[in-house]
Amino acid sequence: MRLFRRDILSAQPAKLYGAWMAEFRTPFFRSYLVNDPALVRLVLQDRPQDFPKSDRIGAGLRPLLGESVFLTNGEVWKRQRRIIDPAFAGGRLRDTFAGIMAAGQAGVDRMSLEDAPQEIEAIASHIAADVIFRTLFSIPIEDKTATQVFDAFQRYQRSQPILNLAAFVPGPKWMPRFFRKDTRRTAQTIRRLITELTQQRLDLIAKGQAPDDIATKILTTRDPVTGASFSLKEMVDQVAIFFLAGHETSASALAWALYLLARYPDWQDRVAAEAQGFDGHFASLSRLPVTRDVFRETLRLYPPVPMMVRETTKSEVFRKRCVRPGAQVVISAWHMHRHTRLWADPDQFDPARWQTSAGKKSAQDAYLPFSAGERVCIGAGFAMIEGTVLLAQLLRAFRFEPCESFVPVPVAHLTVRSYSGILLRISSRVS
Ligand code: HEM
Repeated sequence: MRLFRRDILSAQPAKLYGAWMAEFRTPFFRSYLVNDPALVRLVLQDRPQDFPKSDRIGAGLRPLLGESVFLTNGEVWKRQRRIIDPAFAGGRLRDTFAGIMAAGQAGVDRMSLEDAPQEIEAIASHIAADVIFRTLFSIPIEDKTATQVFDAFQRYQRSQPILNLAAFVPGPKWMPRFFRKDTRRTAQTIRRLITELTQQRLDLIAKGQAPDDIATKILTTRDPVTGASFSLKEMVDQVAIFFLAGHETSASALAWALYLLARYPDWQDRVAAEAQGFDGHFASLSRLPVTRDVFRETLRLYPPVPMMVRETTKSEVFRKRCVRPGAQVVISAWHMHRHTRLWADPDQFDPARWQTSAGKKSAQDAYLPFSAGERVCIGAGFAMIEGTVLLAQLLRAFRFEPCESFVPVPVAHLTVRSYSGILLRISSRVS
């Protein structure tokens, strides 16, 4: 219990990386961690309506996210996805590409080259937040409101873990939930700023002067079933999750990818060589296969969203064990991605595995960085393009080297971060 309180990742016993299922018991409550691919498929893909998101988990994020698509269930969730999904559909991704490229280039231009090691998570967060502002609202991070939102999010992510003790051993439903005062205040600040941005955009849409970006697309899409579009409040809830899910996760993945490349210079050289040939056009993305595999492998070893939690609504039988309604089901990408019976050499960083049939088979059964089924990450396609492009841009310009004595320890904050940041030496590749 003490370990769980401190950090949910380091509290995991080694045998969970080889187990198909584990049961956690408390006086109030049962929780099941499932690693069996058949069970994971059942929960996420075959009968997702019987395993909704648990209210207990959402409680921690509600002051910030309100009724956002990340937290809702049932008909409300379905309606929200009908309005949001078209903005992230395949064809629209091409339109976001310029924003991603511009944010990557700004990150390259901003980089200061020093002899001293630099904290890479902060650099990655700055670039990823810039991507979201540019693609969602067509504004760069230097915009005054954007900077204020970004600063407030940084404070928020430090004070509110997405996964906490509650994921495994929540108290009874009647137990009051306490938020630290500053967490609530920060959430209110973020929502006020996002409301301003959204209202400004609604005004531009009304005048016919709005840029054609993700915000405009969502605000002008009508639900094909009811004909209604989002209200201001509903849109603020959605924008909050786009910022949160969009920049926290991508920043985490980018920082770990740079760390892994620093530790594996052969792979770094291959990515850098590939990046030299990249002409910056959307159509040339397919010419970055090594970079893409490096990003995939990073998401395997350091899935930004390490665990997902669902709730049973009726009696179930899991691996011959009776599971009562109201039990918590934890699906852990963290464990599945490093599972000794699902991956060959699971702890090894090996991007080449993505081109082998064994690697592809393992991925089918046990690769869930974006979840699966109807609640799959809305931004999955976007994030794969973003990660690949940003890596190529950074590796084309810079060399990243590890600091001998520094070993990052992963912990679950809002996403998987390193306990004391990630220190790397950065030098120019351009002589
Ligand atoms: C590397 C980057 C990313 C990773 C690893 C990631 C991962 C995930 C995962 C695992 C979930 C499912 C969570 C659950 O079911 O409990 C999810 C949901 C979601 N993600 Fe992402 N995400 C990433 C980037 C993005 C981006 C760029 C956006 C949008 C701009 C986004 C928006 C969302 C939304 C709105 C949901 C909720 C979907 C629903 O419940 O219907 N994500 N993401």
